Amino acid sequence: MLRRTLPRLSSVKDRVAGAAKHAVKGDEHFPSLHGHPAARVHAREAAEKQAGLAAAEEEKQRGGKADTVKEFQIYRWNPDSPGRPFLQSYSVDLATCGPMVLDVLQKIKSDHDSTLAFRRSCREGICGSCSMNIDGVNTVACLKPVDTDTSTATMITPLPHMFVVKDLVVDLTNFYQQYKSVEPWLKTKQPAAEGREHVQSPGERRKLDGLYECILCACCSTACPSYWWNSEDFLGPAALLHAYRWVSDSRDEYGEERIQALSEGWDKLYRCRMIKSCTATCPKSLDPAAAISALKTMHQLRKA
Ligand code: SF4
Ligand code: SF4
Ligand code: FES
Repeated sequence: MLRRTLPRLSSVKDRVAGAAKHAVKGDEHFPSLHGHPAARVHAREAAEKQAGLAAAEEEKQRGGKADTVKEFQIYRWNPDSPGRPFLQSYSVDLATCGPMVLDVLQKIKSDHDSTLAFRRSCREGICGSCSMNIDGVNTVACLKPVDTDTSTATMITPLPHMFVVKDLVVDLTNFYQQYKSVEPWLKTKQPAAEGREHVQSPGERRKLDGLYECILCACCSTACPSYWWNSEDFLGPAALLHAYRWVSDSRDEYGEERIQALSEGWDKLYRCRMIKSCTATCPKSLDPAAAISALKTMHQLRKA
């Protein structure tokens, strides 16, 4: 089993090392990532780290001291077992594992401990399921390259200030309710011309760039101190980014009503203090803080 797997991994690493050499010069080797700055940075980081890992592996094979085994400390809590949450330590050989943190979690679950619970689906940064806190930063595990420095452990905990269901799985019921409350769908007063679809010019469509890409991972809302302390009343950056996405849509005819609804009760919108942790942490490089600021400005201009 080991003999069959290792050569395949080595050849992948050779190609990754080659890509890393080019990647530092430009992004032409990652054309599909054009327009996704965070994904470009992560791809480059993963390629560079894997190149370093490949070198360490080679040195190990030559009898050197390089180590490819890394410690991961993972938050564990099971509602069915009495006791407090704790950090469980796992040692994973990075040479036998994919480059992202989600790969490590899959490896732990399949080879070390099948009781570990976490969410994942697409492993492409599309579904938003694998959000968690990795070394103190909220992000999606499938887009986060493993830190290949084996001298320090990587700590993985659930999204902060959320009720934990089990291990790395948190309860997102309130988060989804808040998303639903902004009515994230097209609302019109008039039927489409000739009974067909509501049309939009390319320029109008471009206004939605930076808004429609949100994957509802909740990294932003759970990084927001205002949301930590007021999550029942403040809608949080993710729901507000979506509210702004529909207000900005040239086809939507309920902009006034949407803003009115957001400003009924000060907490929904104005609990945002522009701390900008949301924007700093978004794994899709979106800017929820700017969307919230735009909503506040629109509300103030309507009042004037
Ligand atoms: S900018 Fe607003 S929503 Fe974003 S982290 Fe700060 S307070 Fe929260
Ligand atoms: S704005 Fe970014 S961090 Fe927030 S839910 Fe959307 S993708 Fe996730
Ligand atoms: S598994 Fe879908 S975003 Fe990570």
